[in-house]
Amino acid sequence: MRITMIGAGYVGLVSGACFADFGHQVCCVDRDAEKLAMLKLGKIPIYEPGLDDLVTTNTAQGRLRFDDNLADAVSQSDVVFIAVGTPSRRGDGHADLSFVYDAAAEVGRALKGFTVVVTKSTVPVGTGDEVERIIREQNPTADFAVVSNPEFLREGSAIEDFKRPDRIIVGTDAERAKAVMGEIYRPLSLNVAPIFYTSRRTAELTKYAGNAFLAMKITFINEIADLCERLGADVQDVARGIGMDNRIGAKFLHAGPGYGGSCFPKDTLALVKTAQDAASPVRLIETTVSINDQRKRAMARKVVEACGGSVRGKTIGILGLTFKPNTDDMRDAPSLAIIQALQDAGASIKAYDPVGMEQARKMIEGIEFGESAYAVADGAHAIVIVTEWNAFRSLDLKRLRVLMATPVMVDLRNVYRGEEVMKHGIAYSSVGRGDTRSMFDSAMLSSNRI
Ligand SMILES: NC(=O)c1ccc[n+]([C@@H]2O[C@H](COP(=O)([O-])OP(=O)(O)OC[C@H]3O[C@@H](n4cnc5c(N)ncnc54)[C@H](O)[C@@H]3O)[C@@H](O)[C@H]2O)c1
Repeated sequence: MRITMIGAGYVGLVSGACFADFGHQVCCVDRDAEKLAMLKLGKIPIYEPGLDDLVTTNTAQGRLRFDDNLADAVSQSDVVFIAVGTPSRRGDGHADLSFVYDAAAEVGRALKGFTVVVTKSTVPVGTGDEVERIIREQNPTADFAVVSNPEFLREGSAIEDFKRPDRIIVGTDAERAKAVMGEIYRPLSLNVAPIFYTSRRTAELTKYAGNAFLAMKITFINEIADLCERLGADVQDVARGIGMDNRIGAKFLHAGPGYGGSCFPKDTLALVKTAQDAASPVRLIETTVSINDQRKRAMARKVVEACGGSVRGKTIGILGLTFKPNTDDMRDAPSLAIIQALQDAGASIKAYDPVGMEQARKMIEGIEFGESAYAVADGAHAIVIVTEWNAFRSLDLKRLRVLMATPVMVDLRNVYRGEEVMKHGIAYSSVGRGDTRSMFDSAMLSSNRI
């Protein structure tokens, strides 16, 4: 199959490279000239484990190429994927579909022969109808079908997720399009993943419903974590205890600083807006969004509390800036809101992230970046683990204790056990573990350094 992938971002580049690896001929098109120039030189503009090898191999074998000429690529393709961004629209929280519609218009003008146009971007219900209308308007005689094929990969494990998905959702009623999609995904559907065919609107909504459910699950365990702190229970054991129930499942039950990233925040909000417009509000998700927004500042208050009630004039070391490990993606990362709240409270911030600092520098002002966890701890009045990178899982606690101005660790990812940190004379606070909280209090009492 000849494929055009419009948008060479986190989804488009991974999907394009994986389709090429399946044996298809793929052309990735992007309007970002800088990104395209890097890709043509064999450089990968994002951090995603394994992606450089996959791109290099498939480019070398002639199955994957990069171009800015959308019309040329589309006119030669059997299938065109639209994988452009759908960020929150400024002001009202609806999905901004301008990139999708621009791409659709360009596709419409370039189509030749029967072509399947697939929206891989996460788009609200009805977007497929509008893409179809735009293409028809541009090219009244075009022979095409518009399909919804939402993507479920996770940054950090994107290639594995793409190649071993739980399911592939294909939304279309057109038999010709089903046959083409079946052929595209044949290497997976043979023995790995079922293809689930449904209507286009249902496919569009399935993606939002999936993300909203996961966001709700995270928010649920975060509230249970707060309750655990009040009642002296341990949220990790509660999560394990309920997660062993197959009806609930163990995933997405890690208490922490609230969900972030390029998908959950914008997609939950967009679903809320769609539902309100349809006069069928999703109040559970409205509440989820509101709890999660408040949680990030609450995490900053936790840091203030750990520092004895004030961070004014103190230096706080932040470990981890990206919204999760193994990505450089800083979009809607909890670190952004936590750092802002700590700055508002008068703290100076030093931060380190293993791969996210280049992106972070573009988004965060007025902070100092360190070259390692220890550089950040040097002279700090507290260190805060915001992202659970492996590099932070076995820190030299003895060394940290010596470097810090006051030995305080706030572990927002529950990476450590309280005892092991406290043993080194470092006051410790985590999320939803009542026992470490009381140990922390006793450490505060026995330490006159705070
Ligand atoms: N990032 C994820 O983990 C993830 C997972 C599942 C679904 N999604 C969805 O996939 C979509 C893409 O997300 P992303 O993270 O890859 O975005 P991204 O911002 O990383 O990439 C989008 C790319 O599209 C390009 N682009 C925009 N308009 C274009 C046009 N008209 N022609 C050519 N190129 C154009 C941009 O330059 C950019 O490089 C979004 O709808 C997102 O919600 C993302």
